[in-house]
Amino acid sequence: MSDRATGSAPAAPRTAAVIPAAGRGVRLGPGAPKALRALSGTPMLVHAVRAMAASRAVSLVVVVAPPDGAGEVRNLLDEFTLGDHDRTEVRVVPGGATRQESVRLGLAALPEDVGTVLVHDAARPLVPVDTVDAVAAAVREGTPAVVPALPLADTVKQVEPRTGEQAGEPEPVVGTPDRALLRAVQTPQGFDRRTLAEAHRKIALEGEGATDDAGMVERLGVKVVVIRGHEEAFKVTRPLDLVLAEAVLARRRATDGF
Ligand code: CTP
Ligand code: MG
Repeated sequence: MSDRATGSAPAAPRTAAVIPAAGRGVRLGPGAPKALRALSGTPMLVHAVRAMAASRAVSLVVVVAPPDGAGEVRNLLDEFTLGDHDRTEVRVVPGGATRQESVRLGLAALPEDVGTVLVHDAARPLVPVDTVDAVAAAVREGTPAVVPALPLADTVKQVEPRTGEQAGEPEPVVGTPDRALLRAVQTPQGFDRRTLAEAHRKIALEGEGATDDAGMVERLGVKVVVIRGHEEAFKVTRPLDLVLAEAVLARRRATDGF
């Protein structure tokens, strides 16, 4: 029945989170796919789903599983509760060979009534809910693309990379960008759903594809803004990051008493 026929107002567009979790985690070393590895006994992906579900804005989470692992991921997610947020709907779809492909497959699984999309790396399991809320709120207030980010601790050099047979050789420096002008970006990145879908339709990138959804939206010519991210939204990439993530969880247990 149409809204006119029922006399009710059209439902407000919903906010959904897409969690690309299809990567292997090569830089973390041998083992299970990164998103399925445990942090304090709970898979990284479960932490990431809980972080999205903790935001009152988010009513649907689409998890993009390894291409051949959707069944396993579904079972895993059914084993763990979302705590107070069990009413959040969680869907699982198989991913692709690159992050860009995985996000595209996740977007394709969104129902019509989703107007705002947060794209969040499973590899950032500890993002605080305040950061998720701030990104979602900025998009819902009319900003088409919002990225949480932090200033850099390290100075950055642009180099002529030495790869292949030359790997490991000294790399000539080309320049030193002014660090004050740079930001290290995190997720969740928030988008007007149509804008992000258009970017994924129109922007084709070679090789590894885009590692950042906002970068694709920038190429459409749409203004992207950065808001302040959070230290705990760091990406678990290398073995040392697991140590840091466990330490953050231990600190939370000590301060929250659970
Ligand atoms: N990702 C994905 N599909 C891919 C590749 C990556 O969904 N084909 C996801 C990862 O699961 C992760 C996020 O994109 O949650 C960020 O990617 P990254 O940190 O690079 O994870 P991996 O690609 O798994 O790690 P690595 O690059 O070390 O292999
Ligand atoms: Mg990767």
